[in-house]
Amino acid sequence: MYSAIAFLLTSFSLASATVLPRAAPVKLAVNPVCGSFAGSPASVRGTLPPLSSFSNIVTFGDSYTDGGKHNGSALSPPVLTKPNPSAGGRYTNGPVWAEYLAEAAGAKLMDYAVTGAVVDNGQWPTVDSTTPNDLLTQANNFIGQFNKLDATKTLYVLFFGIQDYVLSLNNGNSSLSNQAENIAWAILELESSPQFGKNFLIIDNHGRGTESPSGAAFKTELFQALGYLQGIGLNVGYVDLSTVWNGVLGNSPGAAAFGYTSTGACLASSTSTAGSCADPDHAFYWFPGNPTTATHKIISDYIQAVWAQC
Ligand SMILES: *[C@@H]1O[C@H](CO)[C@@H](O)[C@H](O)[C@H]1NC(C)=O
Ligand SMILES: *[C@@H]1O[C@H](CO)[C@@H](O)[C@H](O)[C@H]1NC(C)=O
Repeated sequence: MYSAIAFLLTSFSLASATVLPRAAPVKLAVNPVCGSFAGSPASVRGTLPPLSSFSNIVTFGDSYTDGGKHNGSALSPPVLTKPNPSAGGRYTNGPVWAEYLAEAAGAKLMDYAVTGAVVDNGQWPTVDSTTPNDLLTQANNFIGQFNKLDATKTLYVLFFGIQDYVLSLNNGNSSLSNQAENIAWAILELESSPQFGKNFLIIDNHGRGTESPSGAAFKTELFQALGYLQGIGLNVGYVDLSTVWNGVLGNSPGAAAFGYTSTGACLASSTSTAGSCADPDHAFYWFPGNPTTATHKIISDYIQAVWAQC
């Protein structure tokens, strides 16, 4: 009898000893650097009202924001069906940052982002008309739907620049400056009839932890344009994700402080889950250069930190 119990206890502890403790989820380990549009680029909340005051979050962007539908309609469940590496059409293995943010705000998400999108296809000679909807097209698609949204309860988020930066490295850098002006132009369209948008958040991560002179100039020009838009009475915010990317990919505080065990990508390609890493919950990227859903959660947490601290 006793020996049977002892045997059970022994086998239980042996069995449990083979189960590795589950590591804590990754967590945000940097604070935003806050500033104002009168100074140099930094995160700004400005006059944006509390996140909880928004009923709608309307998003425009590239693969970082692409929820798989591209037209504002409800997204598919964020579920991976292997070997397809895109969870419900997303360019990641679960929800994107916009979904985490909308959930935290208690808002409905309307997502128009498309993987590969730049600000304005016409600015890039090597980009042809078969390429994804650019910001100007995404905004026009939204405006053309004549959605009846309460402007005071709607937050527009524009998250562009990554693809433009990549193209600028190979195709000439002067177009990057035009893209800063085009982001401001799209905001002016959205603040006009019929939507009369009031609340705008711009997210920047153009260099993903790297920078070039023309990238820095793009950032400064965009920041100054946003200061002008704040000056005409819009509520404008700016989230500088370079603080997160430099924090993870650099030494201050470094990836381990966030709980990441890898700063690389879980998958070698964007076509299959074959050869996936063992622990995507603690990997920075899913596809090369594109965040895991764990990192998307970090992006949402960082945006909320800008709201709380800036
Ligand atoms: C949005 O796109 C999906 C396909 O991705 C389609 O099924 C749906 O009808 C579209 N909705 C609207 C409102 O255009
Ligand atoms: C664009 O700028 C980057 C960094 O300043 C430089 O390495 C690259 O050669 C430039 N590209 C062109 C096409 O001028």
